[in-house]
Amino acid sequence: MSTAQSETTGPDLMLGVAVDSIADGTMLAGHVGEDAVLLARRGNEFFAVGANCTHYGGPLAEGLLIDDTVRCPWHHACFSLRTGEALHAPALAPVACWSTELRDNKIFVREKAAATPKVRVAIAHQSARKIVIVGGGAAGFAAAEMLRRQRFDGDIVMLSDDEAPPVDRPNLSKDYLAGNAPEEWVPLRGNDFYREQNIDLRLNSTVTDIDIRARTVGLGDGSKVGYDRLLLATGAEPVRLPLAGMDLPHVHTLRSLADCRAIIAATGSSRRAVVIGASFIGLEVAASLRARGIDAHVVAPEKRPMERILGPEIGDFVRKLHEEHGVIFHLEDTATAIDAHRVTLKSGVTIDADFVILGVGVRPRLTLAQQTGLAIDRGVTVDAYLQTSAQGIFAAGDIARWPDPHSGESIRVEHWVVAERQGQIAALNMLGAEKAFDAVPFFWSQHYDVPINYVGHAEKWDELVIDGDISARDCVLRYKHGGRVVAVASIYRDVESLSAEVTMERQAEAS
Ligand SMILES: Cc1cc2nc3c(=O)[nH]c(=O)nc-3n(C[C@H](O)[C@H](O)[C@H](O)COP(=O)(O)OP(=O)(O)OC[C@H]3O[C@@H](n4cnc5c(N)ncnc54)[C@H](O)[C@@H]3O)c2cc1C
Ligand code: FES
Repeated sequence: MSTAQSETTGPDLMLGVAVDSIADGTMLAGHVGEDAVLLARRGNEFFAVGANCTHYGGPLAEGLLIDDTVRCPWHHACFSLRTGEALHAPALAPVACWSTELRDNKIFVREKAAATPKVRVAIAHQSARKIVIVGGGAAGFAAAEMLRRQRFDGDIVMLSDDEAPPVDRPNLSKDYLAGNAPEEWVPLRGNDFYREQNIDLRLNSTVTDIDIRARTVGLGDGSKVGYDRLLLATGAEPVRLPLAGMDLPHVHTLRSLADCRAIIAATGSSRRAVVIGASFIGLEVAASLRARGIDAHVVAPEKRPMERILGPEIGDFVRKLHEEHGVIFHLEDTATAIDAHRVTLKSGVTIDADFVILGVGVRPRLTLAQQTGLAIDRGVTVDAYLQTSAQGIFAAGDIARWPDPHSGESIRVEHWVVAERQGQIAALNMLGAEKAFDAVPFFWSQHYDVPINYVGHAEKWDELVIDGDISARDCVLRYKHGGRVVAVASIYRDVESLSAEVTMERQAEAS
């Protein structure tokens, strides 16, 4: 997914457009000078905001207008039309706002105004003074950003055992790995951000223990950091297999920027790669390797890639898509050994490989929570407010298992957007907001020029309704359980994907 450039299409909104040309509940893409601007109408109110999403530049005019918000078609960010604030991740930065004026039955866009985020927890009620975040990933970063957005002026210490500041992890298997994204796309923010926002980001800092009574965390170097509220956002780590040859230097996993750079370095002198595992990450890696001209073989035990999560129809489509790009699958087979030059499969087949990438899933990093005695149930158990079994300690992202109001189950997912949104809600609750986490789970995956969007959560389904044509890349798949739609996957049906998200939100509100 490339970042769209802000293009100035449509009418010059400073010259005004006829009121009747914008029906209630619709949007119009235009421009003000060099700025692409979206004009939206809700009843007799008109709003003008930046036309491109601040995540990857998605065209907001092709998204969905809901009340006084607009949702991005690409990865479901949501912006306030009144203030420009990014209300739902993955966008974190606001869009600009312009004032509008109604005159002579025309609507004119006037002055540009700074976005003004809403402070949801009155500063006087923000009782915590020192907040420690363990983890410099999606959830940890989004939490820190939200704390400062809420004008929290106490200490924020972010401890990460990574050597790199928070990065746009989804890019590491997509454009960046494929060689299509410049280096500056990778960090979520430049170093200035942490300095200006007074966020004490400490890299290469492993938290080894938590003392609940003393309210301190201990670091690998023996030092301690005190906290009033603590957020655990330690994420997940790639699963490794008990295979001969797993520790050879040409066998890679992919989680961090360093991992990604090591794979990119390997592509420089190689021709052939074996990807073990047809997971989302495994297949995205295969696609990126093809973009670099590397022969890619994918080995996986399942009959079809992605079948367990998306069903057989999408599985067959994804397989064909990758085969059209030259990927060679070895399905219903497993790797039994790796040596310096090849991978041996259970079937007896051997595949020449200059390097190997393991994409067989991740496991949540729970050691710290387990050692601290927090309640664990295939993840860190949190309540609706994302608080763990210990008061004042919250958890978010890949480690958190939360009571999902949409499925009625306690679930744990490994989605970028969910991690960010949980980090944000945990931040509000650390300040005393008492806001339940009720976002509908959402993820996306990208294979060549085909994006797959998924809202909801379906561990199982008893009916799958396909609308459209999967092979034509124009479809919506509804996963039903007991007659109820529990998840929706789509390819190039963005508005329907957004509508499904809104429907699920409203169903949960009504119940
Ligand atoms: C290559 C790749 C591509 C992906 N693509 C997508 C995608 O397209 N769509 C999607 O929805 N999801 C995607 N994901 C998944 C998504 O990135 C994760 O769900 C998300 O990053 C989880 O956020 P998190 O904050 O829980 O964990 P992370 O982002 O992993 O952050 C965890 C942080 O905790 C640190 N840490 C862990 N333990 C300690 C400790 N003891 N002390 C100090 N620091 C510690 C780690 O170094 C890291 O900084 C992708 C993941 C990868 C790896
Ligand atoms: S481009 Fe808008 S959410 Fe990603």
